[in-house]
Amino acid sequence: MRVLIVGSGGREHAIAYCAAKSEKADKIYCTPGNAGIAEYAECAPIGAMEFDKIVAFAKEKEVDLVIVGMDDPLVGGLVDELEAAGIRTFGPRKNAAILEGSKAFSKDLMKKYNIPTAAYENFTDPDKAMAYLETAKFPIVLKADGLALGKGVLICNSLEEAKEGVKSIMLDKKFGDAGNEMVIEEFMTGREVSVLSFVDGDTIKTMTSAQDHKRAGDGDTGLNTGGMGTFSPSPFYTKEVEDFCNKYIYQPTVDAMKAEGRPFKGVIFFGLMLTEEGPKVLEYNARFGDPEAQVVLPRMKNDIIEVVEACIDGTLDKVDLQFEDNAAVCVVLASDGYPVAYDKGLPVSGLDEFKKHEGYYCFHAGTKFEGEQIVTNGGRVLGVTAKGKDLKEARANAYAAAEWVHFDNKYMRHDIGKAIDEA
Ligand code: AMP
Ligand code: GLY
Repeated sequence: MRVLIVGSGGREHAIAYCAAKSEKADKIYCTPGNAGIAEYAECAPIGAMEFDKIVAFAKEKEVDLVIVGMDDPLVGGLVDELEAAGIRTFGPRKNAAILEGSKAFSKDLMKKYNIPTAAYENFTDPDKAMAYLETAKFPIVLKADGLALGKGVLICNSLEEAKEGVKSIMLDKKFGDAGNEMVIEEFMTGREVSVLSFVDGDTIKTMTSAQDHKRAGDGDTGLNTGGMGTFSPSPFYTKEVEDFCNKYIYQPTVDAMKAEGRPFKGVIFFGLMLTEEGPKVLEYNARFGDPEAQVVLPRMKNDIIEVVEACIDGTLDKVDLQFEDNAAVCVVLASDGYPVAYDKGLPVSGLDEFKKHEGYYCFHAGTKFEGEQIVTNGGRVLGVTAKGKDLKEARANAYAAAEWVHFDNKYMRHDIGKAIDEA
C-alpha cells in the first residue's frame, strides 16, 4: 500500500515512524515533510494548504491512503477534496473538523448535549463582549473562535486586561479572522490531561493518556508555545476519571457529532481539566496532539494502518487497541528565543546516536537538509522521546538523550514530567 502523510512536524514524524513499521505500507510519501521524516518517506515540497497540488500528487503516485496530520488542512476541507477525487483519507471532513475549527461551535455542542465544560458565552459583537466583562468574575478566559496556532487563548486577571484582550482579538484582529467571534469562559483550575482517541463515526477507542507542557519556561512560566514536552501516561488520569469521561465525555461527543449530521472519523483529542467538580473539556482538537503523539504513538502496539483503515471503514469496534505497559517522556529541543524570535539554519549534530539505542526516538519538528547537513528550520526543532519502565525512568532517559544532540541555540525546559513526583 502507498501511504501519503500530510504535515511537517514531530507529530507527522511519529505517524511516519509507525507507518514505516506497518506491514501494510510499502511506500510512504510526505508533503511537505522534514529532514527526519525523509528517513522513512519520500518528501515532496507541497504546502499542507495546497489542496490541488496534494490531490494531484496523490493521484500521480497512485496513493492508496492519505493521513492528514495537521489542523489547518483538516479544518479547510482537504479530506473532502481527496475523497471527491476517490482517494481514501484518514481524518474528519470539513463539517466535522469544525469541532476544532470553531470554539464557539464546540462550546454550543457541549452545552446542547450536556458534556461537562466551563461556563461560557459566545460573542460576535465586541461591544457586547466588553459589556459582559463588566459583571464577570476574574480571572477569566478569552478565546478566539478559530484556529490561531494554539495562541488564541488569553487568561485575563483583571477587567482592564480582559478589555484589552477583547480589543486585540476582535478589533485589532491579532489572530486574523479567527477573532471574528470569540468565547468568554470561566477560568478552571486543576490538572490538565490530553486524551487522544480513534473514532469511526460511531465507535470511539481512546489511546493512553498524556500531558503537555505549553509554557516556554521552567515551572510553567513564560509565553505559551506549541508544546515544550510531554509525558505518557498521566498518573492523574485514574480509572475513576477514565470511567467518568467514558460515560459523560467521549461517547457523548461522538454521538453528538453524529446527531448533528457531522459524523466524526479520525482522531479526537480531548483536552481535559481535572477540576474539583470532576473532569471538564477545555478544548477539542480534530487530530493527534503535537507533542502528545510523540509519547503516545511509540507506546502503541497496534499497526497504525490497520487502526486508521478501521476508522475509515467503520469497523473500529473490531480493533483491540493496546498500549505498552511502560512510560514515555518527550523533551522538545527548541531554538533559544522561541516562541518569539530565533535563528534558523544552524547545523544539528548527534542524531546518529538514536539509531544505536532501543526505545529512544528523535522526532523532527523543524529541520531541513542543507546539502547533506541537517540544519534547524523552526522554533521547535526536535522532540527527544525515551521510554522507560515508569515515568521516572523515562524522564531520566529522555534528559540523557537530549544531551546527545547539539546545535548552537539549543534550548529546553528542565522540568518536563516533574509533576509526576507529586502523583
Ligand atoms: P486551549 O487552546 O483551549 O486548550 O487553551 C490553551 C490552554 O489555555 C489550555 O491548555 C489551558 O492551560 C488554558 N485554558 C484554556 N481554557 C481554560 C479555562 N477555561 N480555564 C483555565 N485554563 C484554560
Ligand atoms: N499539544 C497541544 C496540541 O497539539 O494542540
